[in-house]
Amino acid sequence: MDVYEAIEKRRTIRVYKKKATEDQIRKIILAGAKAPSGGNRQPWEFIIVDDEKIIDQLSEIKYQLNRKFPPQAGETQKEVESRAVSQKKSFENASVVAVCCGLEQAASAWLCVENISLAAVADGLGTGIVSYWGEAKKQAEKLLGIPADHELACVLKIGVPGEEGTPRKRRPEFSWLHQNRF
Ligand SMILES: Cc1cc2nc3c(=O)[nH]c(=O)nc-3n(C[C@H](O)[C@H](O)[C@H](O)COP(=O)(O)O)c2cc1C
Repeated sequence: MDVYEAIEKRRTIRVYKKKATEDQIRKIILAGAKAPSGGNRQPWEFIIVDDEKIIDQLSEIKYQLNRKFPPQAGETQKEVESRAVSQKKSFENASVVAVCCGLEQAASAWLCVENISLAAVADGLGTGIVSYWGEAKKQAEKLLGIPADHELACVLKIGVPGEEGTPRKRRPEFSWLHQNRF
């Protein structure tokens, strides 16, 4: 698949029909690990999480995190709760990979995430990023046994897509482009 096609087709997937196979995961993680990195330090570590108990706890931590979001303009508390429930449910039928990195090395890890996401599309898979911050991030890091000199960049869900992704909302093309100065 042409790289532009993969970029166009990549969408955040929050409904999965089937997990990716171990071979599929290893192939796309390998594409991830070909990302550029500061000083070529390759500061990334990946954890394939196939223990359903751990996956369940990761989804619960995310649920508890997102249900604390203040409602957006015009949103009710019930809608916040329902979005948090969807975040938990989005782990269903998905393979889970935690992307970790050395402290302050997150930029390199995120480049891996994009490589993985595009490679997944080329292989007929979908991905979804799950981010954690604050106490929830610390809980997830403890759960995953991430050592103190590393941190969690994000958790990736990977699998056969069960949806096309939400309708695309994009800023108008080139509305973000400047010349010489901001
Ligand atoms: C840094 C980062 C954190 C994200 N965290 C989450 C998340 O916790 N849960 C989620 O459902 N999507 C998450 N996303 C996905 C975005 O919501 C998604 O990329 C955005 O809505 C655009 O949709 P698209 O990826 O389908 O183009 C995250 C994306 C990025 C880049």
